[in-house]
Amino acid sequence: MNYKINKLNDGHSFKVKSPSNIALIKYWGKYGEQLPSNPSLSITLDNAHTLTTYKISKSDKFELNFKFESMSNEKFQARVEKFFNRAVEFFPFINECRIEMDSMNSFPHSSGIASSAASMSNFASALCEIEKVVTEEDHDEEYYQKKASFMARLGSGSASRSLFPKMSIWGKSVQGSSQEYAIGLDSYDKSFEGICDSIAIVSASEKAVSSSAGHALMNTHPFAKTRFLNACNNFNSLCFALSRGDFKSFAEIVEAEALELHGLMMNSKPSFILMEPNTLAIIAKIRDFRGQTGAKICFTLDAGPNVHILYLKEDEAKVRQFIEEEVRGLCHNNVVIHDHMGNGIEVEYLSRDS
Ligand code: DP6
Repeated sequence: MNYKINKLNDGHSFKVKSPSNIALIKYWGKYGEQLPSNPSLSITLDNAHTLTTYKISKSDKFELNFKFESMSNEKFQARVEKFFNRAVEFFPFINECRIEMDSMNSFPHSSGIASSAASMSNFASALCEIEKVVTEEDHDEEYYQKKASFMARLGSGSASRSLFPKMSIWGKSVQGSSQEYAIGLDSYDKSFEGICDSIAIVSASEKAVSSSAGHALMNTHPFAKTRFLNACNNFNSLCFALSRGDFKSFAEIVEAEALELHGLMMNSKPSFILMEPNTLAIIAKIRDFRGQTGAKICFTLDAGPNVHILYLKEDEAKVRQFIEEEVRGLCHNNVVIHDHMGNGIEVEYLSRDS
């Protein structure tokens, strides 16, 4: 790659806002270097995001000064350093950069919201922003989106899906999709536009099983083959339901995926039960409410006990009332985090006088 590192001077500074995402078709099982065993599909969130300020300058070696919420944090610094060291192969200019970062998450650490998806997509997007400044080559936005998604994936698989507005898919499936990076999905019925996700925080404790350990469980899982096949079928059926505005099928598939993820964990060796009594209580409430009112509401789960309550914008007022009356009291410290479909990565330049 040809690049002009001199274009980076002390004044080059920008902010990246990158969202988390919630998977409807789950990525659970991987091989090689972060390649997914099945295609996944997610909604990009909005309120749950990482915001990082970058200050880039020229240096004779890679130097990183990472701050979390304006404070040094050795553990996070080591993770970020690992990410940049891995990225040198694709962004060689890193070896001539001093990168100062100050990062914060909009959501509490213990909320079970995928912070790695928000943060890794942030760092990957920042590298693409720097590349745009120093490169002598002419690339379009699509090239950078793919490259950022590719790099985010190497940091954390689900992060590859966090860059795109609205919805995203990762893994070889529809035309234009890839194992190596995610693409945006925009062929869905407009009734799903702005779909809401209220996250009922059942427990704020640390994850019982890390993502990497969780994916590894699938290597020897007795149901692995069936799961990967099911995931592909669910993926195709969900795309169809999305394109037709068929909420009933959407809800059936999304709930089946969530329960299958937890079923796989319960059936693996070692076995993990990540749902808690109130996870099940909230699920029962959602299904009752749907049965009684016909509201377009369903749930999904991540690898933890918190319940993502998904509902269409048209039913927002009555679902919010249901959450206040029936769900909030079942949550840890009564915490429910309201979010909705968002627009993906945003970059704001603070100074670019290079
Ligand atoms: C259950 O992306 O966190 O949230 O690639 O090892 O970083 P690594 O795993 P990660 O796995 C996410 C698993 C999931 C489902 C999903 O988001 O698709």
